[in-house]
Amino acid sequence: MASVDVPVALLGYGTVGAAVHRLLEQNAEDIERATGHRLRVVHALVRDPGKERGFAAGEGVLTTDFASILEDESVTLVAEVMGGVEPTGGYVLDLLRAGKPVVTANKQLLARRSTELFATAAEAGVQMRFEASVCAAIPVIKVLRESLVVTNVHRVLGIVNGTTNFILTRMESGAAYQDALAEAQRLGYAEADPTDDVSGADSAAKMAILASVAFGSRVELADVSYEGIDRLRPEHVEAARSLGAVVRLVGTATLVDGAVDVRVGPALVDRHHPLASVEGPFNAVMLQGDAIRELMLEGPGAGGLETASAVVADMVSVLGTTGTGFLQGDACWRSLPKLPPGELPAPYYVHIEVADRPGVLAHVAARFADEGVSIARLAQHVVNGSAALDVVTHTAPSGRVATALDAIARLPEVHGLPDALRVIDERGI
Ligand SMILES: NC(=O)c1ccc[n+]([C@@H]2O[C@H](COP(=O)([O-])OP(=O)(O)OC[C@H]3O[C@@H](n4cnc5c(N)ncnc54)[C@H](OP(=O)(O)O)[C@@H]3O)[C@@H](O)[C@H]2O)c1
Repeated sequence: MASVDVPVALLGYGTVGAAVHRLLEQNAEDIERATGHRLRVVHALVRDPGKERGFAAGEGVLTTDFASILEDESVTLVAEVMGGVEPTGGYVLDLLRAGKPVVTANKQLLARRSTELFATAAEAGVQMRFEASVCAAIPVIKVLRESLVVTNVHRVLGIVNGTTNFILTRMESGAAYQDALAEAQRLGYAEADPTDDVSGADSAAKMAILASVAFGSRVELADVSYEGIDRLRPEHVEAARSLGAVVRLVGTATLVDGAVDVRVGPALVDRHHPLASVEGPFNAVMLQGDAIRELMLEGPGAGGLETASAVVADMVSVLGTTGTGFLQGDACWRSLPKLPPGELPAPYYVHIEVADRPGVLAHVAARFADEGVSIARLAQHVVNGSAALDVVTHTAPSGRVATALDAIARLPEVHGLPDALRVIDERGI
């Protein structure tokens, strides 16, 4: 059977773009055998065509002229692997309006402008796929949209940032935060400017995308509350160890009585929980739902080739499903309310620095009791005349815990602000 020639274009020819081209060239025969299509990169948009590339682009492929891609009617599929929100967002909208399906690896763009992008794709009747935007090689979007189409997923837990997971794993072995970060940068796991990773912003963007797909309701970055690992101290890691837990930066997307809550923050994860065994730069996503109970996907969450493999898989999927109605249009088919910020129930670990005086414990316990927060475990440490309390609460709404902590911070025998980390110990089974 004669194969179909498919001229494709790439926006961007950096780490991921060059790897996409490499995979398409090196696997051309496999793709052709599997799909009957031969994908051929005919344009790749860059800023500087003179730069050295990880995989040669071929004569005349590199261009700085976006219009030459938009106006080339032979191009039937485009992979956006240039990153950034602008001008990228405008380019993607133009391509969709011109009837060209787009595959993207760009979590920041999707987490900020998904409403507009998917509405445009639906109007134009073309697909926009985004597997590579979350956890690179882990096929979580495909699993959520296809394999779990009849599963009422009500909770997604994710370690979706490899840089922070690497740092936390190193801190567990005794490294200081700054040294672990420097090591991550040396090994290429962290950018020179690691702000997006360590602040939790990168994880928040990925959790917004995962929540949208899991719940079929739009979640954008602005809907996600997040904090990072930059304020974590060795004491937290030590306290976690003594409580039989590890510290991980965990994203959670939860449906509570039909309302959506998405947040990212450092959490104490029970050693027996599957997420506790996710180490180094790896990512993992745990899905909990009615018909599946729980399943976890784990793997490399970044890397040029890993990300490119997801981009190529999406390109092949678009070819295989165009015109069938399958998976076209927007995955968000309903609009669920957002859970008010203080209402997500969870157990909390709280670290409080106090003066070593009689009665402190009773005062602290009374402030928790005032908010209806009950204490599951409590340990006291005394070092050089000052003391610290490590408290684990039973499940309580986050707002109640925050109010109790405000009152505790005002107690005269309490030094500084107490730290609170969510505890993740329960499973879906
Ligand atoms: N690298 C990873 O491990 C990874 C993992 C998951 C997702 N992603 C996502 O994949 C995307 C690409 O990442 P990357 O690591 O491949 O980035 P990169 O190496 O910096 O490559 C970006 C490419 O886009 C081109 N480009 C950027 N802005 C442009 C503009 N305004 N006009 C024309 N060309 C422009 C650059 O051109 P020049 O080469 O001429 O500068 C370069 O070829 C991003 O959205 C990123 O978040 C990456």
